[in-house]
Amino acid sequence: MVGFSRDIDEILRRRVESRRFRIKDIDQLKTVDDVFNQYTIDALRELMNEGFVDEVYGSVAQGKEAKVIWAKSKDGWDIALKIFYTTTAQFIRSRYKYLLGDPRFTGVKITNTRKLIEYWCRKEYSNLKDAYDAGVRVPKPITFNKNILVMEFISYMGYSGIPAPLIKDSPPEDPEEAYLTIIKYIERAFIVGKIIHADLSEFNIVNTGNELVIIDWGSAVKSNHPNAMEFLLRDIGNINRYFSKEFGIEVLDSKALLNALMRRYLNSGGANVDGDGWLIINGKRIIDEIG
Ligand SMILES: Nc1ncnc2c1ncn2[C@@H]1O[C@H](COP(=O)(O)OP(=O)(O)O)[C@@H](O)[C@H]1O
Ligand SMILES: [Mg+2]
Repeated sequence: MVGFSRDIDEILRRRVESRRFRIKDIDQLKTVDDVFNQYTIDALRELMNEGFVDEVYGSVAQGKEAKVIWAKSKDGWDIALKIFYTTTAQFIRSRYKYLLGDPRFTGVKITNTRKLIEYWCRKEYSNLKDAYDAGVRVPKPITFNKNILVMEFISYMGYSGIPAPLIKDSPPEDPEEAYLTIIKYIERAFIVGKIIHADLSEFNIVNTGNELVIIDWGSAVKSNHPNAMEFLLRDIGNINRYFSKEFGIEVLDSKALLNALMRRYLNSGGANVDGDGWLIINGKRIIDEIG
């Protein structure tokens, strides 16, 4: 373990020394990574002028719709910049249905690609905040500007700049406990945050070595979205499938969970929280109600 951490330190030292961009040299990012077009560099410069971002290192992950960049804030915290590509027509088509039907974004006239990406970025920030405020373990949202979402960097075992792996690559040590934690988070998000992830699976949960963190809230919808129940059932189904197939643990029935969530949602007026973070509604945790 000691050797391992020394290796990581060495990798990081070299990485940081070779790629450390301050505000005076961020124009050079254009030659480093194609996600940094002029529009994105201008947005980044504003974030730097406002003090949210101090140094930019490099890309830690690349998705269909965004790149995630490791950076540092002025007060020395590791932060993640999720930078949405400004040019993906496919992205627009695939995500439009999540914006439509969202009461927070009605009346928003989307006339061009960049505006749509900006709304998408703002929506992920707003979803992240709802989940964070509801006590779900997610990257702490910091701010957003244009196509850049700024949030807490979720690192592996606290190693600066090393992103926590997805649970599909780094399965939890105690799957039973991990399963219950995710059920607890689904309930807190739905009942306290009034939000449903809608893209929940082993591809959007990371394992820091100490805890599970749910990422990628871009597709999330409010609990009163017309397709809310469909999305919630799909999330539950994905989690049940992963934990039962991968670890052979006994999971709660998907429909029974959905029904309990609905019931508890309607009765959540006097909800309390116990020492483990479970919601107590009508004197019961959700797992007591079903199990
Ligand atoms: N806050 C974060 N801290 C560290 N790594 C992150 C963070 N957010 C995302 N990542 C990494 O970036 C990858 C892509 O991010 P995600 O939000 O899932 O976007 P996508 O829509 O491309 O799936 C994740 O699988 C994870 O490896
Ligand atoms: Mg993802």
